[in-house]
Amino acid sequence: MAFHNFLLLSLIAAYASAATDGKLSPNYYSSTCPKALSIIQAGVAAAIKKETRMGASLLRLHFHDCFVNGCDASVLLDDNATFIGEKTAAPNNNSIRGFNVIDDIKAKVEKACPGVVSCADVVALAARDSAVYLGGPFWNVGLGRRDSLTASRALANISIPPPTSNLSALITSFSAQGLSFKDLVALSGSHTIGLARCTSFRGHIYNDSNIDPSYAKSLQRICPRSGKDNVLAPLDLRTPTRFDNLYYKNLLERKGLLHSDQELFNGNSADSLVRRYESNPSKFFRDFASAMVKMSNIKPLTGRQGEVRKNCRKVN
Ligand code: HEM
Ligand SMILES: *[C@@H]1O[C@H](CO)[C@@H](O)[C@H](O)[C@H]1NC(C)=O
Ligand SMILES: *[C@@H]1O[C@H](CO)[C@@H](O)[C@H](O)[C@H]1NC(C)=O
Ligand SMILES: *[C@@H]1O[C@H](CO)[C@@H](O)[C@H](O)[C@H]1NC(C)=O
Ligand SMILES: *[C@@H]1O[C@H](CO)[C@@H](O)[C@H](O)[C@H]1NC(C)=O
Ligand SMILES: *[C@@H]1O[C@H](CO)[C@@H](O)[C@H](O)[C@H]1NC(C)=O
Repeated sequence: MAFHNFLLLSLIAAYASAATDGKLSPNYYSSTCPKALSIIQAGVAAAIKKETRMGASLLRLHFHDCFVNGCDASVLLDDNATFIGEKTAAPNNNSIRGFNVIDDIKAKVEKACPGVVSCADVVALAARDSAVYLGGPFWNVGLGRRDSLTASRALANISIPPPTSNLSALITSFSAQGLSFKDLVALSGSHTIGLARCTSFRGHIYNDSNIDPSYAKSLQRICPRSGKDNVLAPLDLRTPTRFDNLYYKNLLERKGLLHSDQELFNGNSADSLVRRYESNPSKFFRDFASAMVKMSNIKPLTGRQGEVRKNCRKVN
């Protein structure tokens, strides 16, 4: 009898915690931390008001988290004397941003509901709220991710594609994460916001032929052949702080900033989808939102895996 009650209770407990079966649920915190979503949204809005670029940085942070062993907040762990994390991996060093904003938001969420909301979920929601704030589409974010106990600089080096990638390398990298060709073209539309460093686009503006010559010239004036590695240029020269579909119009005019951007419109298989997203903004928004849901669902830790970190920068 007692044993049966135990079984029943365990079953109920497993059921109530939606993420024990590896699935995320948008209502995961609705009883345990009902204010979490509004606290995160307000924190994102305040951060973008203070610095518009932060919206772009938070969106990218989620991408760089998810592509390395899944969306588990591994990217947030600080290096120390005995631990090397992902922050100094080649794609992240001197490039990835937003850690202080995540810390501030997490501190507010911890105050409201200690030990409940994971850093990985904060990052996933902050990415969505950033896109929406800057004019992009809304999507429901499944929740219940848990935070990793580890990070991998080696995997970050090889899993996040570099801006020198050709189309086939981009397709391979995304397909390794379970993301399709369409997801690749839609998610690259994230480059409708934010900035890149000279070191990320130098090869494209000096060595490539698939670039508008006057656009290349204007970039060469701020980004010399050597030096000034950290000078910034907008990824979308038209509307750099607005989440819209003009990124694709830039590509049609050969005004993509990164080599990898222009690979999507270079007389190859991606051209027709780029044309489609340029002419049909709502199709782009729909495909972007569903690709973000797929990216957000890459290999989450759930149930008893990992932990809910108190401080996003270190394991408990
Ligand atoms: C398709 C492969 C991709 C490549 C090769 C790539 C590469 C890059 C590079 C090199 C930068 C500039 C970094 C710097 O110079 O410091 C950048 C910025 C950015 N990326 Fe990507 N990216 C890709 C896909 C994505 C995806 C999937 C997202 C989001 C879902 C994204 C969002 C962003 C954003 C928003 C920025 C601007 C960040 C800021 O201003 O802080 N990118 N990307
Ligand atoms: C990261 O960047 C800093 C500052 O430029 C540099 O000193 C350091 O060597 C870089 N780390 C790695 C692992 O490349
Ligand atoms: C990853 O990239 C960084 C920076 O380029 C480099 O210092 C490091 O040796 C690379 N490999 C590993 C396994 O960390
Ligand atoms: C694309 O890049 C990969 C990796 O750098 C390389 O092996 C391949 O030869 C390139 N493909 C083409 C068509 O240039
Ligand atoms: C541009 O091409 C030249 C000649 O092939 C090469 O030496 C140089 O490293 C390339 N520059 C970049 C930034 O890719
Ligand atoms: C170093 O970081 C790791 C991972 O966050 C953590 O487990 C460890 O306690 C940290 N060590 C120190 C001395 O802070």
